[in-house]
Amino acid sequence: MTVGPGRGCELLVVGSANADLVVGVERRPGPGETVLGSDLVVHPGGKGGNQAVAAARLGARTALLARVGDDAHGRLLLEAQRAAGVDTSGVLVGGAPTGVALITVDPSGDNSIVVSPGANAHLTPADVRAAGALLAQAPVISTQLEIPLDTVAEVVRRLPPGSRFVLNPSPPAALPAEVLAACDPLVLNEHEARALLGPDAGPRPEDWARGLLALGPRSVVVTLGPEGALTAATGTAPLRVPSLPVKAVDTTGAGDAFTAALSWHLSTGAPLPTATTFATRVGAAAVTRRGAQESYPTLGEVPEG
Ligand code: RIB
Repeated sequence: MTVGPGRGCELLVVGSANADLVVGVERRPGPGETVLGSDLVVHPGGKGGNQAVAAARLGARTALLARVGDDAHGRLLLEAQRAAGVDTSGVLVGGAPTGVALITVDPSGDNSIVVSPGANAHLTPADVRAAGALLAQAPVISTQLEIPLDTVAEVVRRLPPGSRFVLNPSPPAALPAEVLAACDPLVLNEHEARALLGPDAGPRPEDWARGLLALGPRSVVVTLGPEGALTAATGTAPLRVPSLPVKAVDTTGAGDAFTAALSWHLSTGAPLPTATTFATRVGAAAVTRRGAQESYPTLGEVPEG
């Protein structure tokens, strides 16, 4: 299935596309240590590419603005996007090798990831300006931080009137005030929240949400893994949204599926708590299967509450 650029999209993802090189391990090696792992598996990934595929599999009209290399990994990633029905007219090719993520997954399903950005680092503010037509048609634009921060800031400067900006600050970095002020919501996990808040984060997710709101975003969603999520917006009390009990086999990319589902539901006009409830179910489904994009549910596969 291919979605043409002329149809307009419900969600534009501006972000990274990586080839995920995945090895299963009994436990991660310590410094100076060697461990044996499973056979290597190569999956399409990247936080931007994952979000775009997750939304498209749910049925959202989705477009991706990204950069891949002119190489086999780049072709794998483009094919995965097209197979999911993502509008790839904004995917640029060349300039550097395709980004790569080196991923280990342990028996509990937890992962560790090292990203070599490659072409993602060459997605520039000029590329954002050149994609004006793609931005202009998007009611929600979602980004992450595996692309240059200058590029994310340019997206913020080019947001069409009335559109909504969603940011997952992963991997975490200090954010300019203009970027923070545009987030509606800022979507992040405990690790990312603590990184932004520093040592005074406080012990509870409600503390993190209040501290994050004080940094300037219009709203915040903190993902809490099996505990669900917490939403907060200026002037309203933080609200817990429970998850569904599932057996996790691989958490890789579950946060991307969550953010994609949230962003898509926001684009349909859903209130933040409603969109967050839907997103927790999509995230729960994603952890029950291996890989990132391969694990994402269709709308019919999203578990009922
Ligand atoms: O969030 C999971 C993703 O992070 C992986 O697909 C990997 O590519 C890294 O970007």
